[in-house]
Amino acid sequence: MYRIIQLSDVHFGTVNPQVLNALVHAVRQLSPALCVVSGDITQRATRREFVAANAFLKTLPSPVLCIPGNHDIPLFALWARFMNPYGRYRRYLHKDVEPLFETGAAIVIGVNTSTPFRHKRGIVTDAQIRRVEQLAQDNSARKSVLVVAHHPFHVLDPADQEQLVENHEAAIRAWSAAGVDLILGGHIHMPFVHPLIKSYPDLANPMLVVQGGTTTSLRVRRHIPNSLNVVDLYPEKKIHITTWTYQPRDGSHPNRFMCVEKDLWKTS
Ligand SMILES: [Fe+2]
Ligand SMILES: [Fe+2]
Repeated sequence: MYRIIQLSDVHFGTVNPQVLNALVHAVRQLSPALCVVSGDITQRATRREFVAANAFLKTLPSPVLCIPGNHDIPLFALWARFMNPYGRYRRYLHKDVEPLFETGAAIVIGVNTSTPFRHKRGIVTDAQIRRVEQLAQDNSARKSVLVVAHHPFHVLDPADQEQLVENHEAAIRAWSAAGVDLILGGHIHMPFVHPLIKSYPDLANPMLVVQGGTTTSLRVRRHIPNSLNVVDLYPEKKIHITTWTYQPRDGSHPNRFMCVEKDLWKTS
């Protein structure tokens, strides 16, 4: 089994310190082979927030694959926003905004859906679609193929429709045909797993959207608790996904992340 944990929308700048503390314990306990962070790593893309995020990511016990979200581009500093939108991100987190991570079990492909030309909404370009398609097609060893993006490729709530990444349907069809198994996303602060075959019955291969909630921010949405996802990859493309949510201390337990949702999926 190869274990990946998905953190998302950690939003340094609005982090709940008690949740962060519980997260450090949870990650140690879960002992992942890889941590992915699906964007919105800071709240306002300030130097201070990036420094704090960098310090936290360095404490994680495994390699980290992160990608930027819309909050990781300066909003009001217009020169930086348009001339060097990922300057701080590259300096403090990772020089590559579309990293690629490959092991014996999986190919994990970062796709940067944020853009300085949009405040909130994201886009996946034709060139990004082709890059993922090519990497997935070259996967002769039939490893699991995961895309990590920030903006969602599927939403459950009709009110979130406008948050869908632009060009999502073209990407879904191309990536499914090429053999991508999972698309991990964030942005809407609502965790769920959705088999895309339910929305696109003629899809070439089954593919799942795995959405992360906000893992550590105080700015939770509609009282949905902070959460993280655990993705366990098994041979023959069997995938076990669990969502762990934060539960504040009560008489019987300390602040902790606790497993609440379990699903066993198969993508081929
Ligand atoms: Fe966010
Ligand atoms: Fe976002």
